[in-house]
Amino acid sequence: MKSVVRKLLLPMVLWAGPALAADPASEGRALFARVGCYECHGYLGQGGPEGPRLAPGPPPLPALIALDRNTSGAMPAYGPTILSDADLQKIHAYLSAIKVGPSADSLALLGGLSEPQGSSPAEAPRPIEGPRRRPK
Ligand code: HEC
Repeated sequence: MKSVVRKLLLPMVLWAGPALAADPASEGRALFARVGCYECHGYLGQGGPEGPRLAPGPPPLPALIALDRNTSGAMPAYGPTILSDADLQKIHAYLSAIKVGPSADSLALLGGLSEPQGSSPAEAPRPIEGPRRRPK
């Protein structure tokens, strides 16, 4: 058993370990969750009540770095001791790797749902109520 570990498993771990760690997008995904970007922008950067959508199609890397270092005040600033430029580059790689989802019309189960329903206001679908904000 010991020789199997040494001959087979150990080389596999040594080979796969650095390959997994070197993927900037997955490192960026972990950083995005660890420092809390997801709290306002959503895990997939889809946006939420507190922050705008970041993906697909995030702002260019220099704009993302500039904004994180010196924000408008609506977003907390992240200095280089919290996130280095290299970290922000990984977060940018993560956001850039998020692809546009398929359109509703291309999904058989949702076919036709994106067309307007009903022509008179009485027939129009009522908006679904979103999550309520916690009182500050
Ligand atoms: C407390 C909520 C909050 C957190 C946490 C947060 N953001 Fe934001 N973010 C915002 C808000 C609000 C804006 C819009 C600011 C404005 O328009 O002035 C914004 C804007 C941005 C923009 C510009 C989007 C655009 O298209 O103009 C980027 C890029 C961004 N955030 C990245 C990040 C990253 C990366 C993190 C984590 C390191 C993060 N944000 C954490 C609230 C947040």
